[in-house]
Amino acid sequence: KSVAVLMGGVSAEREVSLNSGAACATALREANYRVSEIDVSRDMAALVAALEPAPDAIFNALHGRWGEDGCVQGLLELLQIPYTHSGVLASALAMDKVMAKSVVAAAGVASPTGLIVKAKELDRGDPMPRPYVVKPPREGSSVGVRIVREGDNQPPIAVIGWQPDQDLLVEPFVPGRELTVSVMGDRALAVTEIKPLGDGFYDYDAKYSDDSQVAAVHVIPAEVPESIYTQALDASLAAHKALGCRGVSRSDFRYDDTVKQPGELYYLETNTQPGMTSNSLVPEQARHAGLSLSELCAWMVENAAC
Ligand code: DAL
Ligand code: MG
Repeated sequence: KSVAVLMGGVSAEREVSLNSGAACATALREANYRVSEIDVSRDMAALVAALEPAPDAIFNALHGRWGEDGCVQGLLELLQIPYTHSGVLASALAMDKVMAKSVVAAAGVASPTGLIVKAKELDRGDPMPRPYVVKPPREGSSVGVRIVREGDNQPPIAVIGWQPDQDLLVEPFVPGRELTVSVMGDRALAVTEIKPLGDGFYDYDAKYSDDSQVAAVHVIPAEVPESIYTQALDASLAAHKALGCRGVSRSDFRYDDTVKQPGELYYLETNTQPGMTSNSLVPEQARHAGLSLSELCAWMVENAAC
């Protein structure tokens, strides 16, 4: 079977995607697929031309805007080439954290109650009591995310790089711990606790650095009460289903165990194209569930659809 791996792209997560794509291409070659790698740029004509010798399936290793938000999925639907991961609607819903939270909350999964503000409003004062988190609603890998704590000097938005009229999602910061769960079809694989070093934020560097002074520690299986472990597995499956995801997704949670036991679990978001780099969580959880990266990627290709 021939598989074309789409990677790179033009989002803020381009470098992450190149690493995801390279890892998956190698894994698919090990599983005896004929693999080509397509570095996606803004040149759609070039992409369509590259897809002309139609592969049997596309492995979509893109992250972020255009690659994870339904756009490239729409193109592949039009070209009638089966592709991995979620379809157009689930991708678009999950990419938008506000939409994802509302759809998943309707399925009974609790999430911090957020509000949308224009970036310029942040220069006028706090939109809610501190501590809170500010996120661009359609980004990944923590790009542009900031935690505003008591006593912080909130820098002007121009310094952070937000545009004045840009919409931002503001959520109360949930204290406690960070959990994540991968779903593969109708099965939640495992719960990982992410323990960031330093200031306790699982930011871009903590996600992808190879430096043990910077990188976060992943504890798998997470050492949390059994009821929370099960709740996280169930909530990630519920999110995957409510959003209409296909193949593999990964949902992220905060677990507040600071006031009472066993504490509360809060849904943050679902990643429909989760990272597949050597530091990434999905390959680790698959390994924990007994699957090599080759087996996981082969399963994804065999479940590709359009
Ligand atoms: N957005 C990155 C790739 C992730 O969720 O893993
Ligand atoms: Mg994400």
